[in-house]
Amino acid sequence: MVKSAIGLPPLPGQNGPPTGTRRTPKVSWFALSITVSAKAAYKLLEIQDKDRVFRPGMTVVDLGSAPGSWSQVASKLVGPAGQVIASDILPMDALPGVRFIQGDFREEAVLAELLAATGGRSIDLLISDMAPNISGTMAADVPRAMHLCDLALDMAGQVLKPGGVFVVKVFQGEGFEAFRQDIQQRFGTLKSRKPAASRPRSRELYLVAKDFKG
Ligand SMILES: C[S@@+](CC[C@H](N)C(=O)[O-])C[C@H]1O[C@@H](n2cnc3c(N)ncnc32)[C@H](O)[C@@H]1O
Repeated sequence: MVKSAIGLPPLPGQNGPPTGTRRTPKVSWFALSITVSAKAAYKLLEIQDKDRVFRPGMTVVDLGSAPGSWSQVASKLVGPAGQVIASDILPMDALPGVRFIQGDFREEAVLAELLAATGGRSIDLLISDMAPNISGTMAADVPRAMHLCDLALDMAGQVLKPGGVFVVKVFQGEGFEAFRQDIQQRFGTLKSRKPAASRPRSRELYLVAKDFKG
């Protein structure tokens, strides 16, 4: 049973409400007084339950943040003393405690804007849920996804403080193993996570890397 430390109900099918489906469109998350896209939120909360990546007061960068579920969760978990800087190629509604920068992360100018937004501060946690529009053709989709992962890791290398944490969505396929090894060299620990809310047949999984070596 997925039981969140901050009060998220279990996923359907995991001793949760017997909805008969894993699809969870939108829930009002009464405990936190926020409304999130449940599926995305559950993924991050399961990671939080297992790996404790968030702590109050942290400064967090959230890449691929729209429509905003992860940012809402992040903002809640870091609390008023923390800070969330979010970015997506798509627009995102304003969220309390979240500074949003819209732009294509593949562009230097967007990275520069993000770096400026960190104000030279070292970041505690960088989370990336970026995924390109899926065409259905693996030969095209996986390299595009891996490119975004590589860019996210590059940014992590520039902004994370020693001991910092990097959580990234990856797709298993060409380039995955090299990417995993690249992370392994730069962080003290690395875990692979396949949250229950992630479709079992999808190639998506999350890498949770802790203890950035700097
Ligand atoms: C799975 S969604 C993220 C969901 C989000 N974490 C949430 O909880 O609401 C993937 C996101 O990656 C974004 N994305 C894809 N390519 C991007 C790029 N080149 N630059 C910035 N964002 C990108 C998409 O616009 C999309 O919003």
